[in-house]
Amino acid sequence: MKIDYKKLVAAAAKAREGSVSPYSKFKVGAALLTKRGEIIGGANVESASYGLTCCAERIALFKALTDGKKHFIAVAVVARADDGPTPCGACRQLLAEYAPGAKVFIADSRHLKKIREFTVEALIPEAFTGSSLAAVDR
Ligand code: THU
Repeated sequence: MKIDYKKLVAAAAKAREGSVSPYSKFKVGAALLTKRGEIIGGANVESASYGLTCCAERIALFKALTDGKKHFIAVAVVARADDGPTPCGACRQLLAEYAPGAKVFIADSRHLKKIREFTVEALIPEAFTGSSLAAVDR
């Protein structure tokens, strides 16, 4: 399936409007694309107990997964960041587990047409995944 990455970036920019970021004021939006063409958006949600904050990518992923969606082929992330916001390590881990093989599109919210493209595997090589748990000591 050909990925309409401009549409996906636009969906991430729209999802960003839902950001709940009273502490950092750093608004992030993410949008996942399923193999069936569905788009699921999410935005970062912050806590006064900072470590409980959840990134936009994981919010979108958790929304999608708990809604029964699977087979993600792309994700877009938008924030006001020069060259676009590359996902944090925690989000890379979850993407490796639940969106293997997906393309990752990122854009600065001020320049939505300037899109950079990666793959999940390029962002987290040699990821620890469920298959790493196959062999256990008894
Ligand atoms: N954030 C994301 O939503 N995604 C990332 O990949 C990096 C960081 C959020 C978390 C926090 O609300 C704010 O950006 C500042 O770190």
